[in-house]
Amino acid sequence: MKPTLDLANESFRNLKPCVHGADVLEAADKTGRSREDILDFSSSVNPLGPSEKALQAVTAGFGQIPSYPDSCATALREAIASHYTGVTKDNVIVGNGSTELIYLFAEAFMHKGDVALIPAPSFGEYEGAVRKTGQKVRYVKLGKKFQADPERFARAMTGKTKIVYFCNPNNPTSILTPPEKLAQIIQAALDKDTLVFLDEDFLEFVDEGEKLSMINRIKEFPNLFILRSFTKIFGLTGLRIGYGIASEDVVSLLMNAKLPWNVNCLGQAAAVAALNDQEHLQKTLDLIKVEKTFLLGKLKRLRGLKIYAPDANFIFMDTRKTGFTATQLKQKMLSQSVLIRDCTSFAGLDEYYVRVAVKTRQENERLLAAFKQSLDKQV
Ligand SMILES: Cc1ncc(COP(=O)(O)O)c(C=O)c1O
Repeated sequence: MKPTLDLANESFRNLKPCVHGADVLEAADKTGRSREDILDFSSSVNPLGPSEKALQAVTAGFGQIPSYPDSCATALREAIASHYTGVTKDNVIVGNGSTELIYLFAEAFMHKGDVALIPAPSFGEYEGAVRKTGQKVRYVKLGKKFQADPERFARAMTGKTKIVYFCNPNNPTSILTPPEKLAQIIQAALDKDTLVFLDEDFLEFVDEGEKLSMINRIKEFPNLFILRSFTKIFGLTGLRIGYGIASEDVVSLLMNAKLPWNVNCLGQAAAVAALNDQEHLQKTLDLIKVEKTFLLGKLKRLRGLKIYAPDANFIFMDTRKTGFTATQLKQKMLSQSVLIRDCTSFAGLDEYYVRVAVKTRQENERLLAAFKQSLDKQV
């Protein structure tokens, strides 16, 4: 028999896992510390954790474990739809984390010869999803201050462009693209029979974020798919739940193509309860607002770090004037048990960018102390 890997799907043979933050286990291993000792600023999720009500729903759902979950996640899709105007459950699909939907969308639409456009820098899984289909990615570089130029996107769209991926606010830059600019990109795509996959996973953290969402424009733009997650603001990170909102046609196609029972019963129950706990949501937003201002004020006083004004719950910084690369700074911070995101793995960035989450006051103070200690020796 020939080597087994020769039998594998060609597009699978050269796949490499995408680099992510939140590698707490690896960090603990490297430093000889326990997982609990590492303070993780590399993952930008709700610092308060999930709503108590969501956790209670998980416990209450234990009795459902012996049965299959609702494969269509109907109750959850209805609960999600009820939070938006002009959206019904038939416009909503639920995934095992929003990552599942990034992959499903590429799988459903990328044909042989198609190209996907991805901003650089942006979230790494878009490329992974496209590569898995065996088709090509073309990066569209963001501007000097990491702003998106709709004309540059429009120019990059050719007859082969099937999907434009876009993240708003963007990861890792935390920069928001205003709806007018987004509409220009989506309209240019519509004119060229191209789809737009708009990742709004962090939009709930932005001031008046819902007003900036494109969810209420899915009727105007049938080529638009919007991604949301329960990982970030709702803090249901380990349960793996995300959702997408699009036209009924697109949702129905994806519902038929997805894996059956893709979201487990506990995740579905927790997500419904989380959506209904507006008090926890507001508490989170209030905390992020205060702590972002606090952290920014203090970070600006540290010599050498160039800070990009953040729209989301994480802060993107250029380290070159500190004299350290991102990898070196990450190491220095880790020796004080603080994990930050070295952004070197993002397409379009050099080795001088890091990202940190906004967390609670006590945690933010530990981050600042670790930065001070790491940078004082240099500057
Ligand atoms: C911009 C963005 N989109 C999507 C995801 C995937 O999130 P999840 O699969 O946990 O919903 C992430 C995770 O870091 C992200 O940063």
